[in-house]
Amino acid sequence: MAELKAYFVWDASVRWFHWINLLCLLGLIAVGVAILNDEALGLSSDGKVLLKTVHVWIGYVFALNLLWRLVWAFIGGPYARWRALLPGGRGYMNRVRDYIAGFRAGQPPQYLGHNPLGRIAVTCLLLLLLSQAISGLVLAGTDLFYPPLGSWIAGWVAAPGNDPATLVPYAKEMYDEAAYAAMRDFRKPFITIHEYGFYVLLVLIVIHILAVVVTEVREGGNLVSAMFSGKKVLRGPPADPADAE
Ligand code: HEM
Repeated sequence: MAELKAYFVWDASVRWFHWINLLCLLGLIAVGVAILNDEALGLSSDGKVLLKTVHVWIGYVFALNLLWRLVWAFIGGPYARWRALLPGGRGYMNRVRDYIAGFRAGQPPQYLGHNPLGRIAVTCLLLLLLSQAISGLVLAGTDLFYPPLGSWIAGWVAAPGNDPATLVPYAKEMYDEAAYAAMRDFRKPFITIHEYGFYVLLVLIVIHILAVVVTEVREGGNLVSAMFSGKKVLRGPPADPADAE
């Protein structure tokens, strides 16, 4: 019987990022679904502003956590870095083929970092999270006049004689009509990206969870507990490329 060996893989930053990200996503998705259904829920204008405000504050935590993860990919431990995350690099396509063949045969090669298909999934997830964060930060400015763009947007839409710093969301009497209409046009692509990004993200989250469960059942390697302890236990030598170790 092959000997089991424990390896330290996920450093504290990666583990904290993962669980803070999960909590933020749960909050953002729950409040986002309520915002999407504001009419069915019969929300008042104040109710909508409250929901958006809660969503944006969770969004700030989410965006800062994501930013730190992206920085950590430049300076963090070997398995946190871009070269261990992104698909590609020398021999990548061979590793994909070996992985799929091994998977079909019921014995996929075991990786400490992400397996070759996992790299594609993680890259898509990070890109989508980044797109949600950027579009959300723009919407925080257009809808609530919140940072980072809020004061610029308030200055754009304030009616003459109104101090932009005192603008209130949905108080149309305080806005210049033409400037407000132009600002709503500017906002449109961001709300479209944010809303469709949300649907795609829901699909990716389901795929992510299914992939973790299937990989853990087929491959072992205690993926879930490793995100708490940082340690993975493998049966044989890891298949990771040498530059990711
Ligand atoms: C992955 C993270 C996120 C998810 C899944 C998410 C999800 C959603 C959903 C489903 C909506 C409703 C869309 C609609 O009304 O058409 C929404 C709206 C909104 N989101 Fe997010 N969001 C995320 C991140 C953020 C961030 C980081 C911010 C800003 C800091 C933000 C700010 C907003 C704002 C201001 C709205 C209101 C837009 C409106 O008027 O409907 N979101 N979000």
